[in-house]
Amino acid sequence: MAELDGKIALVTGAGRSVGLGIAQELAQAGAAVALNDLHPERAQAALEQIESAAGGLLAAPFDVANLESVRAGIARVERELGPIDILVNNAGIPEGAGAAGPFVQSDPAQWHFNIDLNLYGSMYCIRTVLPGMAQRKWGRVIQISSGAGSRGVPNVSIYSAAKAGIEGLLRSVAIEMAQSGVTLNAIALGLMANTAERMGDSAYLQRIFSTIPMGRLGQPREIGACVVWLASEKAGYVTGQTIHINGGSVHGR
Ligand SMILES: NC(=O)c1ccc[n+]([C@@H]2O[C@H](COP(=O)([O-])OP(=O)(O)OC[C@H]3O[C@@H](n4cnc5c(N)ncnc54)[C@H](O)[C@@H]3O)[C@@H](O)[C@H]2O)c1
Repeated sequence: MAELDGKIALVTGAGRSVGLGIAQELAQAGAAVALNDLHPERAQAALEQIESAAGGLLAAPFDVANLESVRAGIARVERELGPIDILVNNAGIPEGAGAAGPFVQSDPAQWHFNIDLNLYGSMYCIRTVLPGMAQRKWGRVIQISSGAGSRGVPNVSIYSAAKAGIEGLLRSVAIEMAQSGVTLNAIALGLMANTAERMGDSAYLQRIFSTIPMGRLGQPREIGACVVWLASEKAGYVTGQTIHINGGSVHGR
């Protein structure tokens, strides 16, 4: 019997990269997995890459940053797979946010992209699934955050603010829910291989790379392995925490 047999998981932003790695590990651990993404074709393509699907899979496209679409999307997942036991809030890189840069040069009209997705989007999903989890006296909320939520990282200040905000929310809600059988934790990532590939061989990337004691970048399935553990019975006494996975780095991202 696999660790998460019979459990139902929703992973947001699972169409590629970190979210796909998380979905792959959850499926391998026996969970039924709903793969959310803003882009339906991306969610479907990701689903087709998952080899181990004994628990069942569902492509579940919806916009995490829109409350009505979150409510409708989660209702569909629960109709087709069953009540959600494990929520992984992974979607966190908003489209349309514009280039990163110093706060002093930022356009206030652009700030909402990161806040809408990382803070409101995550809150919409948590608020929608939490009553059912509490009623069933079991649930896991796992938030994908960033080292930039707890350390100063130049040029990503709005993203940092949103990640710090959602980590703060989790810590408080974890206490409110501490006797309900529902745990809420965050995993804060350092620089991952998928982002580095998109950056190309830049001097900035080389600088970050040189600060990673392990001398390599993170892989999506390594994050998935930690998600599986947090979702398991074994992690039942862990709540309100942020676990950093970054090769020992002191550099956020
Ligand atoms: N990759 C890194 O180096 C890194 C570092 C630190 C933290 N993180 C965090 O890891 C998470 C995943 O990052 P990634 O690099 O895999 O991102 P990514 O951009 O490669 O993939 C994220 C997916 O989320 C989807 N998405 C975007 N907006 C959405 C929305 N409104 N609704 C539903 N889906 C949406 C995208 O379509 C995309 O397929 C994020 O929370 C990010 O902040 C990543």
